[in-house]
Amino acid sequence: MSTKDFLVRAARKEPVDRVPVWIMRQAGRYMKEYMAIRKNYEFMTLCRTPELAAEISMQPIDVIGMDAGIIFSDILVPVEAMGIKVTFEKDHGPKLHNPITNYDDVVALKIPEPDVDMPFVAESIKLFREKLDDKLPVLGFSGAPWTLAAYMIEGGGSRNYTKIKSLMFNDKKTFDLLMEKTTETVVKHLYAQIKAGTSMVQIFDTWAGCLAYDDYVKYAFPYEKEVITRLKKLTDVPVTLYINGCGNILEKMVETQADVLSIDWMVDLKDAKNRVGKKVALQGNMDPCCLYGSPESVKQKTLETLNKFGKETGYIFNLGHGILPDIPVENVKVMVDTVKNF
Ligand code: CP3
Repeated sequence: MSTKDFLVRAARKEPVDRVPVWIMRQAGRYMKEYMAIRKNYEFMTLCRTPELAAEISMQPIDVIGMDAGIIFSDILVPVEAMGIKVTFEKDHGPKLHNPITNYDDVVALKIPEPDVDMPFVAESIKLFREKLDDKLPVLGFSGAPWTLAAYMIEGGGSRNYTKIKSLMFNDKKTFDLLMEKTTETVVKHLYAQIKAGTSMVQIFDTWAGCLAYDDYVKYAFPYEKEVITRLKKLTDVPVTLYINGCGNILEKMVETQADVLSIDWMVDLKDAKNRVGKKVALQGNMDPCCLYGSPESVKQKTLETLNKFGKETGYIFNLGHGILPDIPVENVKVMVDTVKNF
């Protein structure tokens, strides 16, 4: 079994020798190697420069040794290509300068052509694959339609998502067109990454966990499902779906036909395994904050997580959300090594 295929095999629930591991946001601020590059460039410039993006994607592989690389980019890259200016203010997260306020704003949005409007994404993937020398799989990703729409309307991160929820409940026409355009964008963006050579893709519907059950079913789920259904007609590359706060909607998420569900730490992994049955693989779900503990406790928490799933295939170790900027690298290494030795 080639090392390259092994994480993908776990995603397909085919036999594997051990549990594979990677980490959401594995290339980022907790690494001094990233900060050394970051101090010279704006974040979006890094995303748009294939040589830098490929170099950053490689950093956690070289220093820590995950079983897959994820391409360095952001879920807001296609949002910018749709026509909304995005910047990252220091310590304040993303800022969208001309958020959507009405129907005409949505009409004006462009559906980007990846080869023309975001060619650096495929270029970064190709360079990263060369650096990896075909030894590990490259993961691609996109925000899901609902989470992208939420950002485009809220203008940045949000506590209560009041603007997108108001739009959902008040203005069906605008909401529907926005979802139609983001869905089209996401399918094209993911398929372009697959054509550039990613072995798997992950869809982040990070904020959909803030929806009431019925609203998830009505406003986020159909678009997740449409993206996945359309991709499945184009390719057999496995698709992972991540939602933060997915405990209440796990069974519904299975219906999207995703190959892997990436779950947050508030769900019990053993319970999740029983609930999703044989249909789908799972990824996750250690609390990123466990990595603030001592190396001993990190090892303990990692083993606890691993034991919840057991040694069957159909499991990819990860955190329950992205790694945080001030986490000690030594602890990440302890976690990854613990998984590899399990
Ligand atoms: O996983 C990886 O290593 C690949 C790269 C990646 C980034 N963002 C790089 C990044 C991926 C997969 C993302 C996804 C992403 N981006 C999500 C979905 C996953 C999640 O964490 O919920 C979301 C919601 C975003 C939007 C975004 N980008 C936010 C909210 C922020 C700021 C957050 C913060 O912690 O300050 C970003 C910035 C960002 N994206 C950074 C990185 C490495 C830090 C930017 C910096 O260097 O200043």
